[in-house]
Amino acid sequence: MAPGNSSPLESFVRELDALLEAARQSFGSASSLQQVEEARVAFLGAKSGRFKAAQKQLGQIPADAKPTAGQHLNRVKNEIQAAFDAAKARFATESFRGEADPTFDRTLPGTTSRLGRLHPITQTINELMDIMGRLGFSPAYGPEVEDERHNFEALNIPADHPARDPLDNFYLSVASKRDGETRLLRSQTSTVQIRVMENRQPPIRVISLGRVYRPDTADPTHYPMFHQMEGLMVDEHVNLATLKTVLQLFATNYLGASVPVRIRPSFFPFTEPSVEADYFWNGKWTEFGGAGIIDPNVFKAVGYDTERYTGFAFGLGVERLCMIRHGIIDIRNLYTNDVRFLRQF
Ligand code: DAH
Repeated sequence: MAPGNSSPLESFVRELDALLEAARQSFGSASSLQQVEEARVAFLGAKSGRFKAAQKQLGQIPADAKPTAGQHLNRVKNEIQAAFDAAKARFATESFRGEADPTFDRTLPGTTSRLGRLHPITQTINELMDIMGRLGFSPAYGPEVEDERHNFEALNIPADHPARDPLDNFYLSVASKRDGETRLLRSQTSTVQIRVMENRQPPIRVISLGRVYRPDTADPTHYPMFHQMEGLMVDEHVNLATLKTVLQLFATNYLGASVPVRIRPSFFPFTEPSVEADYFWNGKWTEFGGAGIIDPNVFKAVGYDTERYTGFAFGLGVERLCMIRHGIIDIRNLYTNDVRFLRQF
């Protein structure tokens, strides 16, 4: 029948049937996955596929014939899709022909994908939190951009103290102008002691693990950013013996049962008396951080009753703990992101 003699619906249906026939033909004769894919693009392609073009003709169909035309359109689409699925299935095993393939060599090693893992410092932090958690210390956090009250003043470090020297701290010039208050990247996690005590009453047992910043030149044992573990315990009757017991339990858990700990007199503005804690490792005493009994001036700064409460605090370097445990001799290795190094942990 010549097109002129048929209704729009009839020619629409006829065209769709021809399209389906052509699609079946193409998918049926495809002799590779590549050809199946080419046929898919030609017939089902979202932009210029032939089905898409036929679909546009639906607009020309008179309203009363549209439901019938639409149904036919859907049927044809499903049939083309089915032809495509069937063709694809024929080649499902094409990509691996196994031992029938003359280029297949079963003695070659396969390819494995590598799993990522946590950075050694993150692993150390998790382990330290775990150990201290078992001793009843829960984690506490504070900001890395601090004000002078939390980094110095409340810690009994007055304005003229050399620890506040601009050469020893990263002061932020822009931020300090904003509201007239000087800010800096915290130089110690002792800041978190203040933040915790400002917000809670004793008894307190917390640790804070995080980054601190100092303008040191990088060398095997220094880096301008490193991590500290701060410990704080406040209660009635806390004393140096409590502190030493906790440090010993910590060393026992982290380094091993036979590792002795000793404390030596030292000085920190926020503790009185202050001590330096060492552990015996690889035949020698090695320092692992500062500690002491909280200075009453610190308690006054946070409004604690100095007659009733006493407390201890300590601050240990996380990098050092990580390095001795893994035999790392240069702190810079931890921060150059060389996967050949990081993969070992
Ligand atoms: N904040 C000290 C530092 O960075 C370490 C420290 C010493 C922390 C004594 C303490 C402490 O809590 O009691 O060098």
